[in-house]
Amino acid sequence: MKKGWLQKKVKEYANLKGYQKPEKFSGILKLDSNENFVIGKQYQQDLIQNARKITDVREYPLGRAEQLVFALSKYLKVPQNMIGIGNGSDQILDLFLANFASKQTKVLTSNPTFGFFEERCKLYSIPTIKIPFSKNMTLDLNRFITKSNSVDILYLDSPNNPTGFQFPKKDLEELVKKFNGLIIIDEAYGEFGDYSLINLTKSQNNLIVVQTFSKTFGLAGLRLGYFVANKNIVDVFTRILQYPYPINSIAIEAGIMALQKPKIMLDAVKTIKNERKRIIQNLRKYKAFEVFDSKSNFVLFDAGGADSRIFTALIEQGISIRKLGKIGKHQGCLRVTVGTKEMNSKFLLAIRDLLE
Ligand SMILES: Cc1ncc(COP(=O)(O)O)c(C=O)c1O
Repeated sequence: MKKGWLQKKVKEYANLKGYQKPEKFSGILKLDSNENFVIGKQYQQDLIQNARKITDVREYPLGRAEQLVFALSKYLKVPQNMIGIGNGSDQILDLFLANFASKQTKVLTSNPTFGFFEERCKLYSIPTIKIPFSKNMTLDLNRFITKSNSVDILYLDSPNNPTGFQFPKKDLEELVKKFNGLIIIDEAYGEFGDYSLINLTKSQNNLIVVQTFSKTFGLAGLRLGYFVANKNIVDVFTRILQYPYPINSIAIEAGIMALQKPKIMLDAVKTIKNERKRIIQNLRKYKAFEVFDSKSNFVLFDAGGADSRIFTALIEQGISIRKLGKIGKHQGCLRVTVGTKEMNSKFLLAIRDLLE
């Protein structure tokens, strides 16, 4: 055994940045993590209560994950053998990276991209090629197509976190159809966008579309994610790569119940899209800000050099948003989650008081 190997390994990991979670403040308006507060807390509590009633947590959830897949299959209109589930979509992304990527495989993605995915690539020493966003926070399709021949895996979050950008459907379809390697399209915010690529998984056997209950269904704390892909990929993922019981019984049952009432989620999505428009219109009134279009449940804006001041002043007023700093040529980016009407009004009022 090589002396000191363990210390060396621990040091190597300790030097990584890791995923940056927002700071935890108590009693604060939480607009920093793209959660969904439009779906009422009482509704979610009833869901958990009902899930608890039919669950015996002394038992492993044998056969219940399959029931969740069955419910997803009806909701997504996709055969059951094309659906896999995970402990949040984080776990699905992680398992695909850990088992299909390596130091020898290159990943093509955007800059910025979902922070967790980027950090996981670093952890596994997977080389990444990142195409930057342009000054108006859009991506150039041709730059992806040009690079696609020299990489093995394509990862795009659609819509993108943190910019809110989503390629026009025909552009993303063109890119996906031209790419021969593994394609992961992360639709964590898919319902807030213009389209989903789920249907393309039926004809394209190298495409994985990942979605989650965290954002649209307002169940981030339950850690429930899923993906749609070719049945052979789903089979190896579920039988070999995935843990035997990745999701706890309560989360499984709550997920099944949430899928029985999709209208609640769809109504919340509608409200969030309307509120997103209101936030963008209001923030655009201030010359100090450059506000970017969004197809997601958050809005990104560049506050120039004033980002830290605004971030801190909002915290002092009990509002937490996400400070992202420099993105491309933009120096002081801030990202605010679209919350309930009341939350958004408080945020906009606080901004007005700061700037007027
Ligand atoms: C693009 C993207 N993908 C995936 C996730 C993770 O979702 P989950 O809660 O299902 O792990 C997030 C969460 O912020 C995200 O922004």
